[in-house]
Amino acid sequence: MVAPVMVAPVTDVPVTDVPVVDVSLEDVPGAASRMAEPFQSRTVSFVRRDNRLRPRLQRTWDEHHGTWVLDVPRALASMSVAPDYLLDQVRDFGRTAPLVVEIGSGTGDAVIQGALASPGTNFLAVEVYRPGMAATLAKIVRHDLTNVRLVQADAVQVLEHMLGPGSVAEFWVFFADPWHKNRHHKRRLVNPVFAELAASRLVSGGTLRLATDWADYARQMRDVLAACGSLTNQYDGRLTDLQTGFAPRFEGRVMTRFEHKALALGSTIYDLELRHR
Ligand SMILES: C[S@@+](CC[C@H](N)C(=O)[O-])C[C@H]1O[C@@H](n2cnc3c(N)ncnc32)[C@H](O)[C@@H]1O
Repeated sequence: MVAPVMVAPVTDVPVTDVPVVDVSLEDVPGAASRMAEPFQSRTVSFVRRDNRLRPRLQRTWDEHHGTWVLDVPRALASMSVAPDYLLDQVRDFGRTAPLVVEIGSGTGDAVIQGALASPGTNFLAVEVYRPGMAATLAKIVRHDLTNVRLVQADAVQVLEHMLGPGSVAEFWVFFADPWHKNRHHKRRLVNPVFAELAASRLVSGGTLRLATDWADYARQMRDVLAACGSLTNQYDGRLTDLQTGFAPRFEGRVMTRFEHKALALGSTIYDLELRHR
């Protein structure tokens, strides 16, 4: 049994040259006066973006979100998850099955492809950006899928509170925001705290899959995950020097326009595959 991980608070430092809003503080009356509370002061890996939907997606959202988007109780901020809220597969999916969790699912191409290919698996898409969630919802409806649920929340909060230890068969983290400037690296999702937390939520033998087109972040992911004692890199040392530790392209990852474009520009796509010991 894997012990739950306590996440140490990280002090945020204002970032001055991008329109970054720490969403953990948004719309919270009196938040500034409660800054000392740990989760409010944690740096997050996302920025607040326009959450308005175009009319067609708004109609899809209004009609279907009650069925597929989990109604998560919040702790304080709008992207938080209440500490006592745990995913219950029978309540939330209507069945128990191996669970794949995609973090930062964007417009849902990977999770939809996965759900179509593996009807016997439950898929949870975690995203903070509502237009992306609404686009995913439209695809769920179009394909009449029953094995996908969405949650609009900070993935770190989802891992901390909503997913029990040893409950996830696979995590997918595809093209996480690279936060390419040095002073923004602290906003990168994949860091030592994330590695420990994700590992603790995996079932024994479970898999963490990642992909990025950003070489510097790829190296950081590889090294941070290698330092996590309960994860084993499945391709450690099997590839050539510069590429050591990277996996072949995950066949279950659908080729998106984004990836096509990155490849056309000559970028390398780095895949990582780690197994829980
Ligand atoms: C560069 S996009 C990639 C989207 C998708 N995975 C793909 O490959 O097209 C990164 C996504 O992660 C989401 N994201 C970033 N940090 C997040 C967090 N802490 N929790 C949930 N989603 C997050 C962003 O909103 C964004 O949609």
